[in-house]
Amino acid sequence: MTKKKVLLLASGRGSNASALYEAMQDGRINGIPVGLICDIPQAQIRQKEKEWDIPFFLVDRKEYPTKGAFNKKIKMQVDALHPDLICLAGFMRILDADFVRAYEGRIINIHPSLLPSFKGLHAQRQALEAGVKVAGCTVHFVTPAMDDGPIITQETVPVYETDTEDTLANRILVKEHLAFVHAVSLFCNDQLEICESRVVHRK
Ligand code: GRF
Repeated sequence: MTKKKVLLLASGRGSNASALYEAMQDGRINGIPVGLICDIPQAQIRQKEKEWDIPFFLVDRKEYPTKGAFNKKIKMQVDALHPDLICLAGFMRILDADFVRAYEGRIINIHPSLLPSFKGLHAQRQALEAGVKVAGCTVHFVTPAMDDGPIITQETVPVYETDTEDTLANRILVKEHLAFVHAVSLFCNDQLEICESRVVHRK
């Protein structure tokens, strides 16, 4: 089966982008990384630019007068790379509805909660405040609504009474890497199908 062209978008540390990149390098994902787009000049993930053999693109939000202009530039950059799949790997911007519709079914996101609970920022803090005993992460197809869209896979972790936001986030992060690699690998093997807003895994 032909390898899928996978584009990574990241804003910060980039541990999820790294997990995906490594899984493509060692064949756990039947994909080739075609580039990484970052929106923050100081992002830690940019340190990988010299090490990884793929193009990095900086689209600095501050250089664009409006959200619309920024989104237009992102779309131009993405279109030029002809990806089969776009992975939002800790990409902290909301992409506009036109962009999402143009790539619907081909953009996936990772979120550090068991969606539909705790959408938005500080999901782990929200989980602690709610007193849940189980937390986790979700990989889902992206729709114009934030942290919404058909769920591909989820992983859970226990929440302990002694947890802080950091300890919980670190426990979830380990599972994020597994869940994201699993979801992207299913996509790249043509094993995902969306039926009535739900994801079916094909053998
Ligand atoms: C992850 O917890 C991700 O789920 C959230 O932001 C964090 C990014 O971590 N959206 P990293 O940049 O992938 O290390």
